[in-house]
Amino acid sequence: MASLEDLTELETRAVADVAAAASVEAVDAISTAALGQSSPIAEARRALRDADPDERRALGRAISQIATAIEAAVEERRTVLAAAERALRLEADRTDMTLPGRLPYRGAAHLVMQVWEEVVDIFTAIGYTVASGPEVETAYYNFDALNTPPTHPARLESDTLYVEYGDDPEAVLLRTQTSPVQARWMESHDPPVYIVSPGRVYRRDAVDATHTPVFHQMEGLAIDDNITFADLKGTLAYFIEKFFGPGGRQRFLPNFFPFTEPSAEMQFSCHVCDGSGCRTCGGTGWIELLGCGMVDPFVLETAGYDPTQVSGFAFGVGIDRLAMIRYEVPELRYFFDADMRVLEQYR
Ligand code: DAH
Repeated sequence: MASLEDLTELETRAVADVAAAASVEAVDAISTAALGQSSPIAEARRALRDADPDERRALGRAISQIATAIEAAVEERRTVLAAAERALRLEADRTDMTLPGRLPYRGAAHLVMQVWEEVVDIFTAIGYTVASGPEVETAYYNFDALNTPPTHPARLESDTLYVEYGDDPEAVLLRTQTSPVQARWMESHDPPVYIVSPGRVYRRDAVDATHTPVFHQMEGLAIDDNITFADLKGTLAYFIEKFFGPGGRQRFLPNFFPFTEPSAEMQFSCHVCDGSGCRTCGGTGWIELLGCGMVDPFVLETAGYDPTQVSGFAFGVGIDRLAMIRYEVPELRYFFDADMRVLEQYR
């Protein structure tokens, strides 16, 4: 058993070690070694049972004093170290509450979709209904019902993207225009008809400044008693004025589309130079905008309408083209490149 001198020496050493300890962990280790179950102090306490009763009290008190002195040193050092460790941890965890918050990134509709919504709104405001049709279409609706003969070059695989190629009306393709919605709508609705049909269309075109294999169109169709070319002109003039602003002029040039007779291409005076010639209009003062015409009697008849009772006009306008012209976007492919430097300008 350790003598009282041994224990006093142990106290001196433990107190010195505790004072020199650099961490709470080290203090705890010293404390366990000096005061724990198998320490010389615990051993001395256990041995008190066998000590001479006359000495037991004094010995017991001496051992307790040694233990208390070590405990006090441990407690004091532990308090100091714990505070220092806590301060370090807080410093490392510090959050700078004065930093500005991070806003979540806000998306926006793509410019083409904004224009899509806007042109649809212009027509729904004057009573048109929005109609839609499938992008995967049959040759019947894309071509045959629209008076496009089997020999028409647009039907070739070189121009049209087929899902199932064939000459017959059941061939399946990606629609090349929104015009098939005309045929679908008339098949299931009686006149009068006032619809617009915005949508995605596909053509087998290589990408250049003004062509991409997918783009957007809006079809318009009005069928009623006595619809004339004057209605067509008036409606489209109204549309152009709403979209590009007042003061422009329109002109109609003869053209050909299988599903309209007569057919025309509509041009409007350049909104940038007002007709004097600039880069936007290629120096001509006029901008080609859309195809239009009076619905061919064959198309009305195929849809089950009586061409002696009703007449109508139709038009098809490129939505991407409208966006390019109004915002002076030089390349159609900018709309499809997903380059944020371009897209972010049109929030
Ligand atoms: N579908 C034609 C095209 O893609 C555009 C068009 C022209 C639509 C005349 C019409 C129309 O409804 O009457 O080029």
